[in-house]
Amino acid sequence: MRIRFAIVAVCLAAHCSPSSKHVIKELTVKTGLVEKKLTLPELKKRFGAETVKVEDYYLKRPMRYNALNLKKMLTAFAAEAPGYDEFIFRCADGYLAHVSRADFEAGKLDSFHLAFGESGDSFKSEIPQGKALISPEPFYAVATDKAGFSTLSWPYELIAIELVNFKAMFPKLYFAGLENDKIAKAGFDLFRKECLKCHSLNLQGGDIGPELNIPRNITEYRDESYLKAFIRNASSYRAKSKMPAFAGLTDQDISSVIVYLKRMAGHKQAGSKGAQPR
Ligand code: HEC
Repeated sequence: MRIRFAIVAVCLAAHCSPSSKHVIKELTVKTGLVEKKLTLPELKKRFGAETVKVEDYYLKRPMRYNALNLKKMLTAFAAEAPGYDEFIFRCADGYLAHVSRADFEAGKLDSFHLAFGESGDSFKSEIPQGKALISPEPFYAVATDKAGFSTLSWPYELIAIELVNFKAMFPKLYFAGLENDKIAKAGFDLFRKECLKCHSLNLQGGDIGPELNIPRNITEYRDESYLKAFIRNASSYRAKSKMPAFAGLTDQDISSVIVYLKRMAGHKQAGSKGAQPR
């Protein structure tokens, strides 16, 4: 009997560890100063797993994912982070998706699920990004309602969810008087919503696109008409740019972002990344 058990155990173990690398999926959750790592089994136990069908935004076809209920998760995390005003979805490649507390509380993330696999606990499909193909591992936030994309742009390679106070986390994006500078403030709001996920200013923000203030502000070495055209459609300059086109922005929107960027040239703050964890 004993021997039989042992053999069964060995076979199971061999079967369980897939060919080469056995990745234990974990999600880092930061609520204020507290950081926890939750493994997939822990997440499933706490929030329950389900199968969801979506029209995949990036793969451009219907997909079925094994997923966790994101609303349940965020509600639980929010209960542990009273001072937060923003969710950050941090991806392995340096992408940072931001969703305001107000948008979450207004139900704008209700159709989202946190996918962890296609069949079982892993992904097979790969997402085209510029010229590359990227696996969505370990987590991929997907939505059953297409409209959700404008709130959260389906972050893949998701490694962490952070509940932060925006101004405390990104103090170097502000300057004294910003609130009263109407056009610059409009540009700041837009930058915060659309650009910060990929770009940093004073080294605070995402890492997919270039830093735009240190050591030289982008408006110090690119002229305005070029910037306007580039921001509207980066791929009209560089084929398959990782920077998306912003067809929905008005000329005024784009001008206001440029005004904000110009103002920031007078407020360079180098130094470390400060509070921004990686
Ligand atoms: C998904 C990521 C992403 C987003 C979102 C994004 N960018 Fe970019 N951006 C990039 C990348 C990557 C580059 C590098 C250029 C390239 O590869 O085409 C870039 C380049 C730039 C440049 C430099 C152009 C040059 O000639 O050096 C500017 C200016 C810029 N982005 C502004 C913006 C603004 C403003 C927004 C928001 C409205 C924005 N970007 C949103 C990824 C992004």
